[in-house]
Amino acid sequence: FGLMSYDPAFMNTAACVSRITYIDGDKGILEYRGYPIEQLAEQSSYLEVAYLLLYGELPSKERLAWWEYRISRHLFLHNSLVELIQAFRYDAHPMGILISSVAAMSTLYPEAKNIHDPAVREKQIWRIIGQIPTIAAFAYRHRIGRPFNLPDSSLSYTANLLYMMDYMNQRDYEVNPVLAKALDVLFILHADHEQNCSTSVMRSVGSSHADPYSALSAAAAALYGPLHGGANEAVLRMLQQIGHPKNVPAFIERVKKGETRLMGFGHRVYKNYDPRAKIIRQIAHEVFAATAANPLLDIAMELERVALEDEYFISRKLYPNVDFYSGLIYQALRFPIEYFPFLFAIPRASGWLAQWLEMLDDPEQKITRPRQIYLGHARRDYVPVDQR
Ligand code: CMC
Repeated sequence: FGLMSYDPAFMNTAACVSRITYIDGDKGILEYRGYPIEQLAEQSSYLEVAYLLLYGELPSKERLAWWEYRISRHLFLHNSLVELIQAFRYDAHPMGILISSVAAMSTLYPEAKNIHDPAVREKQIWRIIGQIPTIAAFAYRHRIGRPFNLPDSSLSYTANLLYMMDYMNQRDYEVNPVLAKALDVLFILHADHEQNCSTSVMRSVGSSHADPYSALSAAAAALYGPLHGGANEAVLRMLQQIGHPKNVPAFIERVKKGETRLMGFGHRVYKNYDPRAKIIRQIAHEVFAATAANPLLDIAMELERVALEDEYFISRKLYPNVDFYSGLIYQALRFPIEYFPFLFAIPRASGWLAQWLEMLDDPEQKITRPRQIYLGHARRDYVPVDQR
């Protein structure tokens, strides 16, 4: 292959230098800007973490208040976007709505094309982080045929999302603070994960100097796939299909025969317990204390127990990943299963945007253009259709 290196799926190629997220997959370590994920999950908030990812340092008290205020000024959707969401079939998959809505935002804010102006970039970031939860909630309200609940900027980021969804449909609905906090921790855990599939897409599309909405829409499309952000949805469906802890051994046998995968297990980088899964497992118990117990949790715990003792999983270093328990919590918060990848996308937006900014400011970065090894036909002559 000459001087070119062949590395399908970029398993062994660093495509950029980054100072945002550090992962040690063998030890199960995850840090944002040097801060361990465990400390952030326990002490920080999602919006503070988003600031950390985007600006590189934790904000002062004043700066945090400024940042939260900036986001709170961008919760409302442009009316054209509301009409776009209403044009979808009621049962449209929410990720399709997300991908289309964010792409449509580039037509509503055409100044976003001016990616060389730092002030323009910053404003689009506020808009995206502010509006994404509103898109999720409006898509949900459209699905159930109820009027939209306008955003309430006096609430926290996650409480506002739960309020806008208002699944209980009660007057004077008050969000349970335990649930809003649990969702906030999940958002912290999902905010960034270095050069995963969707982030690579964000950088790749951004490298052609497309506007951030177009790049983020493409990143969301990558996240939609069942091997990436769609895995939490797939886990729930798998647990429902298994149905009872007693069916777990038979299911594990099918996985070992290669008939199906154990969704929520395995990771390209973690060859140890995913540190995010550990935190989520803990939150699951707290959430179920505030809601009703979820019988699927028993199936998940039994699956984990059986798999972690099985030679197939041990020898391949397959451990639970972030998606294994997150779907159970989303379900306890009463989100429909189709919304799970969206709940991954909302916080990941800050990571995508941080990586996009870093890429634009990196003088080494050019337009992404991988090479290939050509193994097709050698030159041959065209044959007219009536002679083939
Ligand atoms: N169940 C059963 N076997 C598995 C699994 C699994 N979940 N994951 C990997 N394997 C086996 C695989 O069959 C292969 O075995 P063999 O060497 O005998 O052929 C070996 O483990 C290596 O797997 P791989 O497919 O080469 O590993 P990868 O790094 O390409 O894939 C993965 C990583 C996450 C796509 C994969 O583990 C998987 O499909 N997991 C299930 C889906 C999932 O939970 N995805 C969420 C990932 S974390 C969040 C995110 O990124 O969105």
